[in-house]
This record gives sequence, structure tokens and C-alpha cells, in this order.
Amino acid sequence: MIILGIESSCDETAAAVVENGRTILSNVVSTQIDLHKLYGGVVPEIASRKHIESIDKVVEEALEKAGKTLSEIDAIAVTAYPGLIGALLVGVNFAKGLAFASGKPLVPVHHIRGHVAANYLTDEQFKPPFLCLIVSGGHTNLALIKDYTDYEILGRTRDDAAGECFDKVARVLGLAYPGGVSLDRLTAEVKGEGKFAFPKVRVADHPLDFSFSGLKSAALNLLHNAEQKGETVDIVQFGADFSDAVVEELISRLSLALDETGMKQVAIAGGVSANSRLRAQAKKLCEKKKVSLAVPPLSLCGDNAAMIAAAGYYEYKAGNTAGTDLNASATRSIEK
Ligand code: KG4
Ligand code: ZN
Repeated sequence: MIILGIESSCDETAAAVVENGRTILSNVVSTQIDLHKLYGGVVPEIASRKHIESIDKVVEEALEKAGKTLSEIDAIAVTAYPGLIGALLVGVNFAKGLAFASGKPLVPVHHIRGHVAANYLTDEQFKPPFLCLIVSGGHTNLALIKDYTDYEILGRTRDDAAGECFDKVARVLGLAYPGGVSLDRLTAEVKGEGKFAFPKVRVADHPLDFSFSGLKSAALNLLHNAEQKGETVDIVQFGADFSDAVVEELISRLSLALDETGMKQVAIAGGVSANSRLRAQAKKLCEKKKVSLAVPPLSLCGDNAAMIAAAGYYEYKAGNTAGTDLNASATRSIEK
């Protein structure tokens, strides 16, 4: 079964063609990063406009690169939620138009389920059940993926997402957007020395939940106080220690969730899964616990449409299609 995937939830316009949820025939991503860099973050109105300008060319290119015509596609999967509403609407309306005109089924996909499905494109044999650490710009969750479309959230962030926390601190350090990527590049080769101390955060009675706002505030206060005292901060060492602290929050919950669930397979998913420290620590933990670890290649960690087509394949098989009354939504539970 051949699925055309379309993604426009944030700052990448993407289209891809994927066979049976596992094999990428094409994967085209048109990024808007350079546009938003000027403002230090995504400007929603600019994102929507740019998606409108790019989407037809991106979809055309994806079909062309896959060597397929629209008539050879079996279904059209599109990110319908969650994300920036104006940005999502561009992809959803484009997909609705294509589905209506071609008579193909339309499959709405949850963006985060797409990130999880990036792991199906990496290893043909990898399949549920598994424990997944989901870390993106807007989400931080520990989820039990019981089946392709059956999710149970075990832990969630009470405030900021890990990606937001990286982005905000990187911005204050003067690093380019997207901050998480810049911070990783700056500190990847540097060992954290614990020279800068950050709080370990625990959510009372919910040991698998996360909270990053305290960690973020502690980092910003440290920088602010140093500035007021006229002290210079070694931003590379600071960035390394801070990154270690964020990763430690993630890994400690993953470790606990492994103990609690007894799961033997782990995956990480979402933009922050590209983080070199997180990848290294997750590997270390899984080796220690003697469980397998699936990690998407860097090319599939960020937003792309191959992951949407992969998730769309399983949603389609579960009967989750939509009509032309499909609407986008800025928020949506991963479990639904
Ligand atoms: O999944 P994603 O591409 O978009 C959302 O669905 O939110 O995630 C984007 C987030 C941004 O916060 C970005 O800074 C972060 O992922 N990110 C990273 C790295 N690469 C992307 N954070 C830390 N280290 C990285 N290497
Ligand atoms: Zn994403």
C-alpha cells in the first residue's frame, strides 16, 4: 500500500511517499528555518504563508522522486493535529482537496504519533509493544505504545517541553534558532563537569511526570545574576552542564518507567531525539537494563512527512479515515 504523507504543523513543509508504512520512496522537506531565524523563533503568520507558497511544489516533488503519479497512491495521510493552527490548515486543506479530486481515502495523523512512527522506517522488524520517550518542541511524554494505534501516556510534562527548555536557554546564550540544535552543536564534544548546578525536579506523587520550568528558570537566573555582577560565563561549559541536567531528567524517568513496566523495547522520538547527549545516555541506560533501543536516524528526528505517511498507514489499517469535513486542531491528546 502506497501512502502520500503531508506535514505542515510548524516550520517545515513536507511531503513523502512511503510503502507499507516501512519503506521510504521519497521524502521532501522544505524548511523555513532561515526565515524564522531573523525573529529567534517561529512566527505563525509567516509560517502559514510560506506553507501556502511551497506545498504544491513539495507534494509534486515527492511524487516525482518516488516515480509515482497521484493515481498510483492508495491513501493521503496528513498531520491534522496538534500544531500551529494556521500552519496545520494549509496541509489539511491541501490534502482534503487532493483526496476529493482523486477519490483517495484521507487519513488524519497525530503529529506526535508520526514522530513515534519514524522508528518503523528505521528498522523493518521494530514493532509494538514498546516504551517510548517522546521529546519534541511542544511535547515531553513517556508513552506505552501497546499497538500501532493504541497509546497509553505514563508520564507527561507539567509545564515546558524539553525542546522548549533547550530553545529558551540557547536563545539567552545568544545561539541561533532553533536553539536546541545550536546548543547541541556547541557542546556535543564537551564533557559536563557539574560546575554549574541545576535542580533535580520531581513531581510529587507522579514520579514519571516531568517539569522543566524550574530548570529553565534556574539557568536563566544563573546567567542573569552573573551578568549583573559583571562576571563572564563560560557558555560552552554552562551549555554542557545544562544539557546534562535536562537529559538526566529524561533518562531518570525512562529508567523508572522501564523498571515499572518491565518493557524490553525502548524507542525515542521527536526533534530532541537528535540530541547527542540524549542518544548516548539512552544507549547507556538500555545496555545496562539489557533492553533494545530504537532511535531514528538524524534525518528522521525532525519534522518530515515520511513519518506521517508511516503512521498514516497504521491509522488507515485501523479504519481511522476522515471525510472532507476534517478540521485541523491546535491541540489533541496522543491517546485518542
Ligand atoms: O519534533 P520537532 O522537530 O518539532 C515539534 O514537533 O515540536 O522538535 C523541535 C525541537 C526544537 O525545540 C529543537 O530545538 C529541538 O527539537 N531539537 C534539539 C536538537 N535537534 C532539534 N534539541 C536538542 N538537541 C538537538 N540536537
Ligand atoms: Zn515535530
